[in-house]
Amino acid sequence: MTNSKFLPLTRRHMLAASAASAAVVNAPHAALAQRSRNEAAPPPQMKVKMKVNGKPHEVELDTRTTLLDTLREHLQLTGTKKGCDHGQCGACTVMVNGTRVNSCLSLAVMHEGDEVTTIEGLGTPDDLHPMQEAFVKHDGYQCGYCTPGQICSAVATLEEIRKGIPSHVTGDLTGAIAPTNMEMRERMSGNICRCGAYSNIADAMSEVAEG
Ligand code: FES
Ligand code: FES
Repeated sequence: MTNSKFLPLTRRHMLAASAASAAVVNAPHAALAQRSRNEAAPPPQMKVKMKVNGKPHEVELDTRTTLLDTLREHLQLTGTKKGCDHGQCGACTVMVNGTRVNSCLSLAVMHEGDEVTTIEGLGTPDDLHPMQEAFVKHDGYQCGYCTPGQICSAVATLEEIRKGIPSHVTGDLTGAIAPTNMEMRERMSGNICRCGAYSNIADAMSEVAEG
């Protein structure tokens, strides 16, 4: 005989009851999360002045914007390529005050007042930089995706050698450094080419190094 004082409680009733109580318990949290999402402060912005390829620019940016995204998305200089966006491929190499950097690893706000040179600033189709000419002559690219970074890196590499900045393979740290094949390969090792144009790139660089 059933006890009529108590309602029969089935498994279905139990599940419905616990779902309802979970919704009631979570509702304030969900509302709070939604409100804090809506009220989140906008990301901090900052004005940055820099000279790119000889032209002054002033851009207002989210402070987390990389130099690479500034060049490509804000200044429409899309010659500089985004490969890995993690500092591993060298496709984004540009020169800052004459020194090569991976622009994906550098925040634009770090470059207030700096002079940036991208592939667009080295030469034009009608007036190629000697390194660009040498790449064409020696077939230093296939798909070309890595090429802007390779060329910027190659130009800066020869300058590093000329200034006597040693690398891991430099034998004599006191004398002038010769632009040997090994020196160039070591210094260009951060620039990855999926097409494998390495030998031709080294040939192009040798030609420019020899003048
Ligand atoms: S995109 Fe910067 S190193 Fe690959
Ligand atoms: S030429 Fe294709 S990745 Fe280098």
